[in-house]
Amino acid sequence: MHDIRRNVALLLGSALVLVGCDFQFEGQRPSLRFGLNSNILANEDSGVYAAELAQDPNAQAQIRGALEMLFGTPDAPSFARPEEWIDDEYDPNYAGYYEISDAAFEAIMAQNEQLFAPELEAIARGNFADVRVQREALDLRDYWSGIMAEYEELQAGLESGDSTESELAEFVAAIQEEAPAAFIEWYPSLRESAELYRQQCLHCHGVEGGGDGTTAPFLNPRPRDYRPGIFKFTSLDNKSRPRREDLYRVLTDGIYPTAMPSFRRFSNAQLNGLVDYVRLLSIRGETEILLAVEFADNVDEGLPMELIQSTYLDVWEKWDAAADEYIFFDGEVPESTPEAIAHGRELYMDAKSANCVSCHGENGRGDGPSAFEMDADGNEVRVKDDWGNEIAPRDLNRGLFRFGRRPIDIYRRIYAGINGTPMPSHASMKDSEGERLLSDQDLWDIVHYVRSVSVKEASEG
Ligand code: HEC
Ligand code: HEC
Repeated sequence: MHDIRRNVALLLGSALVLVGCDFQFEGQRPSLRFGLNSNILANEDSGVYAAELAQDPNAQAQIRGALEMLFGTPDAPSFARPEEWIDDEYDPNYAGYYEISDAAFEAIMAQNEQLFAPELEAIARGNFADVRVQREALDLRDYWSGIMAEYEELQAGLESGDSTESELAEFVAAIQEEAPAAFIEWYPSLRESAELYRQQCLHCHGVEGGGDGTTAPFLNPRPRDYRPGIFKFTSLDNKSRPRREDLYRVLTDGIYPTAMPSFRRFSNAQLNGLVDYVRLLSIRGETEILLAVEFADNVDEGLPMELIQSTYLDVWEKWDAAADEYIFFDGEVPESTPEAIAHGRELYMDAKSANCVSCHGENGRGDGPSAFEMDADGNEVRVKDDWGNEIAPRDLNRGLFRFGRRPIDIYRRIYAGINGTPMPSHASMKDSEGERLLSDQDLWDIVHYVRSVSVKEASEG
């Protein structure tokens, strides 16, 4: 990490300590609390959750307390730092300063310089009263309010004789020297990102990221419940947790044609901050689920501190491992030929290999036999995804791919499957000798077939 960046982290951090404590957000804004995962409490479906937990307020308080210690509250979110991280000087609370590459951070700075141009100009002119920090940047606002408080005190002091013109000029010069970096190198804190989340995401994704905001019941598919740690649109193998880049892309592109909008209008720094906050909610949610399971296994002992810590670090490890699971494809994308498409169709139909037909149906309409199951009353219903919602295999004719329609996007979907849904990983299918059933070339042929089907309808319609 660059020294300048570290300084900004310290600068903003200390502003928090100085003026942050009793700063009131203007406009009444009730403070939020994280609730416990009601799926766990209701002990729905999945047998692993602790039925006892629902009846045991004491245990609930323990889990709540553990989670608050590890992740803070919606108004003051923060990751607990185990000693190793302090020794390694790693701090996910300042992900921007610790995790983002230099090149990406330079892009953030260049954009900040444009976005904050009016503020930077006002500072350069010495018109401090004209500096207006945007609503969600709570810490940056606090930092600036601290400066303004001092500035106004010095100005008032001119009349009473408590301060002099030269003291004021010195202060202005010092701020003109120091403050631009706070704007140019601004990267939202978790508190600031939680605020943006609250404005933009909460009504769909909910306070805890449970996918249960007020708008959620009206949507199909439902907004993602981040808490199980399962994300659909990664470029990764083995059902990995997402990389920053995967979540970032979901935010810039949205998930067409679902209700998940594109947030391209926000800055680079803000989008990265939202990624940080989604990660916090997701790690918090998975830690909660695992703690509930642990609790069920040790009802008498409760939750010892070591267990809480090791659970927390286990969940982090999954996120850290993601980078190693990236599905590279270095070569040229093989050309789409009539032979490739015909071979792709063969594999698509073949019950002994790709067997896409079993779900997507002969004509790709999403109506294959495995797309349905019998419910308790013997009615044919759609199968469910891991969040318990009915799901249909994509109608391939319509060409509406949610995670990109480039050949490489579809390749990665077929290669790794779609986490949390029945759509399987086809690269991990093995024959009886343990060899891959479908080679990369086979997968590409299927990609070409899928594209040929969707392109046909797109041009017909
Ligand atoms: C109008 C409702 C709505 C809003 C507002 C919304 N989302 Fe979503 N979001 C969805 C839906 C619906 C999905 C699930 C789409 C699917 O399953 O294909 C989703 C999925 C996601 C996913 C999961 C992607 C994956 O790979 O599984 C992430 C991450 C996400 N949203 C983040 C956000 C963030 C951050 C915000 C606010 C900046 C936000 N969403 C605002 C509806 C919304
Ligand atoms: C066991 C059922 C099942 C099988 C087998 C299956 N799929 Fe899917 N597929 C699904 C489901 C369910 C979805 C929808 C997932 C969602 O909405 O998030 C899907 C989605 C897709 C998508 C959409 C990706 C996107 O970005 O929106 C493509 C493309 C696709 N499948 C292709 C295939 C191909 C090609 C095969 C065979 C190699 C195949 N599927 C095998 C169930 C299946």
